[in-house]
Amino acid sequence: MRPLVSRSKFFRALAWIVPGGALLGVSVVLAVMAFPAAASPTHNRGHKGDGVTVSKAPYGTLADGTAIDQYTLANQHGMTVKIITYGGIVTEIDTPDRHGKIANVALGFDNLADYVAKSPYFGAIIGRYANRIAKGTFTLDGTTYHLPINNGVNSLHGGIMGFDKHVWSATVVPDGLKLSYTSVDGEEGYPGTMKVDVTYTLTSKNALRIDYHATTDKATIINLTNHTYFNLAGEGSGDVFDQVLWLKAHNYTPVDATLIPTGVIAPVAGTPFDFTKPTAIGLRIREADPQIVIAQGYDHNFVIDRPAGDSSLILISKAFDPASGRVLKTWTTEPGVQLYTGNFLDGTLVGPSHHTYRQGDAFTLETQHYPDSPNEPAFPSTVLRPSQTFTSTTVYAFSADGHK
Ligand code: BGC
Repeated sequence: MRPLVSRSKFFRALAWIVPGGALLGVSVVLAVMAFPAAASPTHNRGHKGDGVTVSKAPYGTLADGTAIDQYTLANQHGMTVKIITYGGIVTEIDTPDRHGKIANVALGFDNLADYVAKSPYFGAIIGRYANRIAKGTFTLDGTTYHLPINNGVNSLHGGIMGFDKHVWSATVVPDGLKLSYTSVDGEEGYPGTMKVDVTYTLTSKNALRIDYHATTDKATIINLTNHTYFNLAGEGSGDVFDQVLWLKAHNYTPVDATLIPTGVIAPVAGTPFDFTKPTAIGLRIREADPQIVIAQGYDHNFVIDRPAGDSSLILISKAFDPASGRVLKTWTTEPGVQLYTGNFLDGTLVGPSHHTYRQGDAFTLETQHYPDSPNEPAFPSTVLRPSQTFTSTTVYAFSADGHK
C-alpha cells in the first residue's frame, strides 16, 4: 500500500530536530544482545555506540495454559520498553526526565490477569480495524460484511477478539522484537486470511519505533495502531491537563453521538481542537463545545497536515510535560491520529504504582487511518488487496528538555 521508509531516510529526516545536531543516523544501535543467546548473535553495524539489549522473562499463563512472555528492550540511555506476547502490549516505557530520573510513562497493569480481564486496550496492538466502524457494517466489492458490535451500536478496535486479545509469536530482531499473528479468513467478520508482523525497535536515542506489515489473500480492510496511554509525568501521577501538546493538524473529523465521524473534515481554528500551537491539554477540555461534550474530553481523529496520498514518515506531534521536562515527539506515515484523553477511565483500574486511573490521567496518540473509513468514500482508503502489502510506521521519540 505504501512504500516502506528506509531507516537511513528516517534518521536523516530526524536529525534536524535533534538538539545539538546529534546525528541519530550515525549512532543507530549498534549492538544487540539477543535472547535466547543462541537465537541471535551480537549485531554490530559498524558504528560505535551503546548497545540495545533484548531479554525475555515469563509473564504468566492464560486460562488455556498458554505461556505469555515479557520482552525487555533496554538501551544505555535509561530507556526501557517492556512488551508482552499477549496482544503485543507495551506494558511499560521507562524514560528519564530532565534530571535523569526515570519514570514509567505508559499506563498499564502489573499482572497478566488484569490485562486479560479489564484492560481498556492499554498499550495494545489494535486490529484489524483501529477505532470504530459504524454499526459494524461495511461493503467491499459488492459484499456486505457484519462485524461484532462491541461498543454501543458500533464495532470498536477489531471486535470482541481483536488483535489486542491474541497471543503473538515473538522473534528477537536487531534492536527489538518482531511479533507475528495470522488472522484467519472470517475472524471477527473480516474477510481474508491476514498475516501481520509488528516490529518494535528501540534506538540508542530513546525512540520506540513500530513497523507494521500485513498481507491478505482476499480483498479486506485494515487499520492498525498502538494504544499506549501516555502520561509524561509518570503513570498514576494524576491528570495530564498541564502537559502541552502540539499537533500538525489544521483539521479533524467531528463525530456523532456514537463517536462515528459525520464525514465532515472540519477546521480546528477557533475550537478546543486547535493544537496547531502548543497548548495545555486541559486548557479547553471542559469547554461546552458540542464535540467535547459528546466525548467527555478529546476522543477524536485529527487529520494530519500532509498532501493527499503522502505517506512519508513525518513529525506530527510534540507533547511536553513542563514539570518533568519529558518530551514525546511522534512521527508517522499515517494520515490521522486519534487523541484520546482517557475519558472512560473511572477510577476502578489500578496501575503498577498502586494508584487508580481517572478520566484525564493520560493521552493517546493513536496513529491511524480515519475511523469508519470503509463507509466514507472521501476518506483515505483502508482497503488492502492480495496484490498489495500494507506497511505503516510510527515512532515515539522521548527526550527531556534541558537534559544534559
Ligand atoms: C477510542 C475510545 C475508546 C478507547 C478505548 C480509543 O481509541 O477512540 O473511544 O474508549 O479507545 O480505550
